[in-house]
Formats: sequence, structure tokens, C-alpha cells
Amino acid sequence: MAKVRSIYFCTECGNESPRWQGQCPACNAWNTLTEEPKQATRREKRSGAAAVMTAQPVQLEDVTGSETLRWATGMRELDFVLGGGIVPGSIVLVGGEPGIGKSTLLLQAAARLHAAGRSTLYVSGEESAAQVRMRADRLNEAAGQVTFLGETRLEAILEATTQRRPDALFVDSIQTVYSDDLDGAAGNVTQVRECAARLQRLAKETGSAVFLIGHVTKGGMVAGPKTLEHIVDTVLYFEETGQLDHRVLRSTKNRFGAAEEIGVFRMTPSGLEPVLNPSELFLQDRTSGVSGTAVAAVIEGTRPLLVELQALCTRASYGSPQRVTTGFDRQRLALLLAVLEKRAGIDFSALDVFVNVVGGVRIAETASDAALVAALASSVYDRELDARSVFLGEVGLGGELRPIGQIERRLAEASRMGFRRAYVPARAVPAAQQGALDIVGVKTVGELIAQLFGP
Ligand code: TYD
Ligand code: MG
Repeated sequence: MAKVRSIYFCTECGNESPRWQGQCPACNAWNTLTEEPKQATRREKRSGAAAVMTAQPVQLEDVTGSETLRWATGMRELDFVLGGGIVPGSIVLVGGEPGIGKSTLLLQAAARLHAAGRSTLYVSGEESAAQVRMRADRLNEAAGQVTFLGETRLEAILEATTQRRPDALFVDSIQTVYSDDLDGAAGNVTQVRECAARLQRLAKETGSAVFLIGHVTKGGMVAGPKTLEHIVDTVLYFEETGQLDHRVLRSTKNRFGAAEEIGVFRMTPSGLEPVLNPSELFLQDRTSGVSGTAVAAVIEGTRPLLVELQALCTRASYGSPQRVTTGFDRQRLALLLAVLEKRAGIDFSALDVFVNVVGGVRIAETASDAALVAALASSVYDRELDARSVFLGEVGLGGELRPIGQIERRLAEASRMGFRRAYVPARAVPAAQQGALDIVGVKTVGELIAQLFGP
């Protein structure tokens, strides 16, 4: 028996330290180091190695790509976010806060897979068979055929999977799984990481697709998602959208598809339903007759999405004015305010500025600069914008409106959603007409504001 000593792990990034520190030396997070028993590494390695088959060298052209093969779950949004269905032998982490609907999502996926003739094994350490059955009874999908195993011991899960060879294995949740080979309780960083690594090997060896549910709490995951992200092929996060009942499934990493794809669902009394037209959702409660709102067309992953940006500029009461943003980069806002001040003569020095992206969307693109500029000016002048207009373009430091990528796709989405007019950078006016959209080319922010509100 090896001598057990302590070691310290950061719950955010999984970094290992020999002693306790207030701040993690790797990710600089504060108070995230937790003590865990140091593992007898050799024993651990040997027990892991026993399960690994010796690999044989092969000619690449002889490899039949399992990656080209995919199993569709028939849940359109889930398949889409996965990059076109489940890849056999892959391992997917589904993270999210407790209560968001992770178990529901994966039980529905399991039921759908069953209906498509695939075998599944749903392992839960969170809920009893009776509880999962109760959930299954609520769903529109017939989940009765899904095989359930109430187990938290990794070795038992590995054995059941090796015996049954399910096409898909669901583990709910990775924080409840522990290995006999390791000291320390389920949910600590060593347990979570090693169990996930063993399940990853299991996926590769058996060809079963493995889904891990991982809880993320407001203060980060019990064992931070970062500690698992490099082990798994795909990382999906299930999040609230800021609108009741709606959930966004977002891929932040995908070895088999594009990252940053989103799929939108609605939680109903009988399970999750896909929202087939996300733009509709993000625009549904559009505030008309109010100044300070404008619509942008962003690309989330590979999909164009229309989102509403809101700006509120009010007189600052004291001290330095506030700049508060939700869903929009603060530095980018500061830059746009400076450009508007210098190039369009709007003085923000005595104004508090609040920016909000409706529907819980986070904008990472500069393509929505023009929309925010329009919203800011609209708020300052207290004059509303036409609700059927969309604004596209990046703003440069000279106040020029710069072309952005994939403009045709964005315009096509706007046209499809019933918009009438699009303001685009003059240099990027497409040759072809987009439906009934009236396309207006604009050179600078000054020109844009003059067009909207008069000189
Ligand atoms: P759940 O899948 O248990 O969340 P997680 O696994 O992420 O903790 O879902 C939790 C919530 O969803 C719970 O508050 C009940 C609700 N719910 C519905 O509204 N409709 C349904 O059909 C189901 C199964 C759950
Ligand atoms: Mg759950």
C-alpha cells in the first residue's frame, strides 16, 4: 500500500499543486484549491492499462472511418449541435446547472435512439429507477424500452457496458461515479477526471457512444468542466436563455463538428421540444414603440440568428458614468462610444450607458456594431427605429462601416423573418436582391445616423 499524502487540485482548471495556495497558479482563480488524497500512481496506471487493448499499426487508407457514420437521434436540435448526429465511439460531456433539464434531454435522446433501433444503457447515480421511470412517463417519447442501471461504481458500469455493448451509454452524472482504484470521494477532481478518462477509453474500445452529464453550479462545476474538456470529444452546455422555459444547447468544443453551434428547446410538461426557428424566439417579445432597440444578424456557429440589442442612455447622476453590458463586450462598447463621440459628435461623457442583448444571447462578433450604434443613437435622441429594419456591419476607428462575413446568409435570414430594410456597409452591398429586402449601403456611422434621424 502506497503512502497516502495530500495533493491540491484547482476545481476550476484541474491544475495540481503540491501545497495549498489561496490563488491557483495556473488559472489565477481564488480559493479554488481543494485537498485530495495523493494517488498511488503506479497501481492506478497498471489497473488502467489492463483494460487497454494493444493497438496495431494500420494503413490509413484501410481505416473505415467511423467518424463518417452517425446515428441521428431524431431530436433535430440535438443532432444539429452534435454536428449531424451521434458519432459511434465518441464521448460527449453535457454540462449545465442542476434542474436545467440535462437528464430530461438525454432520456429523450435515449428513447429516440431506441425507436431508431439502437440499444442504450442509462446509468444513474442521481435518481432511482422509479424516479427515472416517472420522468419517462411524462415524456412524449416512449422511453420504456431504455435499459436502466442504478450504479455509481465505475467498475460495475464498465462491466455492464462491456457485456451489453449498448450503442449509447448515458452516465448521469459523472460527479456521482467513483472508482475503487482511487482514494477519495465521488465528485473530487481525481475521481471525476480518472472516471471520465476510463469511460473515454471504453468508448474507443467498444464503439459505444458515451454521454456524461456534468453539473455546473453558479460558482463553477463541483470538479470544474475545464478538467474534463480535454478528455471528451464534444462539450455541450445546456443553459437558460433568459426567457422562461427556453433552453439553449451550445457546443463549446466539437471534434466532429463546428463549435459554438446552438440549438434551442422549450421545456414543456411532456419534455423538451425543439424550437425550430430560434430567430423567432429571440425576437418574439420585441419592444416596439420604444427608443434604443435595434436588430442585428449574428452567426452563431454556422447558423444565422437575428437578435435584438437594447441600449439605454441616461443622465449620469454622479462620478464617472456607468457602462453596463449584458451579452455584449464592454471593451467593444467603450470603443463604439468613443467612435460615436469623435466621428458623429454624440457626447456620452455625462451619460450612463446600459446595453442588453435580448434572450440571453452573447454576442462575440463585431458584425453587430452597426446595430448597437443605431440603438445607442436611438436612445440618445429618444427616437425609435423602424421595427422592420436590420443593421449589419463592423465599425472601424475612423467611423467607417466595414464589410462582414457571410452577409448574404444574414440578409436571407432577415428576409425570411419578415424584415423590410437592411442597412449594410456600402462596400458590401450584395449584387443579388434578397427577397423583398430594401438594402441600403452606408459608408460611415455619421451617414448611418443621418439616414436614420436626419442631419
Ligand atoms: P431535469 O432533467 O431533472 O434537470 P437536470 O438533470 O439538469 O437537473 O429537469 C428538471 C426540471 O424540468 C424539473 O424542474 C422539472 C422540469 N420538467 C418539465 O418541466 N417537464 C418534463 O417533462 C420533465 C421531465 C421535467
Ligand atoms: Mg438530472
